[in-house]
Amino acid sequence: MINIAIDGPAGAGKSTIAKAVAKSLKIIYLDTGAMYRATAYFALQNNIDVKDEQAVAKMFENFNMDIVYEDGAQQILVNGINTTPYLREHYMSKAASDISALPVVRYKMVDLQREFAKTHDVVLDGRDIGTFVLPDANCKFFMTATPEERANRRFKELQEKGQDVDYDTLLKDIIQRDYNDSHREVAPLKQADDALLLDTTNMTIEEVIAAVKKVVEEKVSAPSEAAKNAPQNEDANKEKDDKPGELKAFGKASSEVPEKTLKRIKTYYQPQKSFVLYRFLRVILRPLQCILWPTKVINKENAFKIDGGLYLCNHYTTFDSLIPIFTMFKKEAHILAKYELFFNPLAGSILYKMGAIPVRRGEADTDSVKAVFRVLKADKKLLMYPEGTRNREGTQDMAELKTGAARFAIKMKKPIVPMVYYKPTKTCHKNYLYVGEPFTLEEFYGAKTSEEYHAATEVIRQHFDEARAGVNAYVESLHKKKSKADKTSEKEDK
Ligand code: DC
Repeated sequence: MINIAIDGPAGAGKSTIAKAVAKSLKIIYLDTGAMYRATAYFALQNNIDVKDEQAVAKMFENFNMDIVYEDGAQQILVNGINTTPYLREHYMSKAASDISALPVVRYKMVDLQREFAKTHDVVLDGRDIGTFVLPDANCKFFMTATPEERANRRFKELQEKGQDVDYDTLLKDIIQRDYNDSHREVAPLKQADDALLLDTTNMTIEEVIAAVKKVVEEKVSAPSEAAKNAPQNEDANKEKDDKPGELKAFGKASSEVPEKTLKRIKTYYQPQKSFVLYRFLRVILRPLQCILWPTKVINKENAFKIDGGLYLCNHYTTFDSLIPIFTMFKKEAHILAKYELFFNPLAGSILYKMGAIPVRRGEADTDSVKAVFRVLKADKKLLMYPEGTRNREGTQDMAELKTGAARFAIKMKKPIVPMVYYKPTKTCHKNYLYVGEPFTLEEFYGAKTSEEYHAATEVIRQHFDEARAGVNAYVESLHKKKSKADKTSEKEDK
C-alpha cells in the first residue's frame, strides 16, 4: 500500500497539496481533520460538551462513521447522515480542536485511519499521521508557514467565499489552535524525525507541489519501477527482501511486528498466579545490582507505609528501574513497561513472569489499563514513570507529567508514593533515591474531565518537587559534612 503522510498546523496548505499529490498518483486523499470536525459536529448537534470525555465516550456507544467518495470528493457520514456540508463553518474549527484533544476520540479516529490506510493507497493530511497514526508511512512531510501567513491565506479564502471575517480574529484563532494541537497529551502536533520540513511561507502552491512530488516520485514511484525490472529468480528476490530500505518503500517496514508476537504480548495481559521466577532472579541479581549501582534509598520506610498503590519515579537509565523494583517488590514486580520490550521472546517472557505490564505509549491501551486495574484492585504495588519516558538529558527537571497516574489513583482510590533519583545512576558510584511521603488524591475522587485530571497531576508534580528538594538537601548535607571532615583532618595533619 502507498501511504503518504502530510502533517502540519492549521492553514499550512496541507489539503491543497495532499489533493494535488493524490490526483497525480491516482490515489485517494483522506482529510483526517474532517473526521474530527464531523465528530465535533455530531456532539454539538446532540448538545454534548466537546470537552467532556465521559459524555463523548457515551456518545460513541451509538456512533458510526463512514467515509465515502462522491465524484472523488470525501464525504463523512455519521450514523448515515452526511455531515460534510457543515464542517468548514468557522465555529467548527475550535470545537474540532477541543474534541480532538480527548484521548477517547483520538483512539477511535486513529483506529479508523489505520484501517483505512491498510486497505487503500492514500495521501493523509493531519497533525499526527507521521508520528503516530502511520509511523511507517512511505513518505512523510511536515508543512508549516508563519501564523500571519496562514491567517492571511484563510482570510482571502473566506473573503472569496463572501464570508465576512476579521483578520485579527483569524490570527488569534490560529495561534490558539496551534497551542491546543501541539500541547494535547495524546499524539500532539509534532514533526516526525524522518519527515521532510516544508516552510511554505514564501512558496507558491506550484512550488510546494513540485517539491512534494519530487520526493514522492523518488520514494514511491522509483522503487516500483525498480521492482518491475527486478530479476525474477529466487536468489535475487531474497536479496531484495534483505534490504529493509526497499521493503519500506513498498509500505512494509522491516520493523513491523509479526502477528505471532502481537498475539503473544496479548497473553501477557492475563494475570499470573506464580512469580517464582522473579523471586529467584531477585535473589541472584540483587547483590549484583548493589555492586554495579550501589544506592542509598533515603526514607525507605515511606515505601512500606502503604499496602498497595502507585509508586511513581523519575527515570534516567535503562537499568535504574532495578533499584526500586528490588527494594520494594519482594515477591512480584508490577511495572508498566514499554510494549516494544516484549517483542524479544526471552526478555518478554521474563518481564511477563515478573509481573510487568506492557503498555503502548501514547495510546489508550485498554488491555494495559485493565491489567493495571486488576493489580491495584488486588492491593498490590505498581511502579510507573509519570513522565512516560526516560529523561535522556540527565537534568534534574522532570518533563511534563502525563495524566495516566492521576487517572489510575483517582479511579482506584489508591495512594501514591513519589520517588526521585538525585541524578542519573552511575555504575560503581554511590547513587541516591529519595522516597517521599505517601499521599492520596482524595479531593479529586469522582473526577471526570480532563481539566480535573490535569489539576490532580499538578498535585503529583508538587509532591515530586518536595521530594526533589528533599533529595538535594540530603546530598548537599552529605557534601558539607564531607568537606568539613576533610578540613579537620587537614588541620590535624598540619
Ligand atoms: O485540519 P483541520 O483544521 O480540519 O483539523 C481540525 C482539528 O482536528 C484541528 O484543530 C486538529 C484536529 N486534528 C487532529 O488532531 N489530528 C489530525 N490528524 C487532524 C486534525
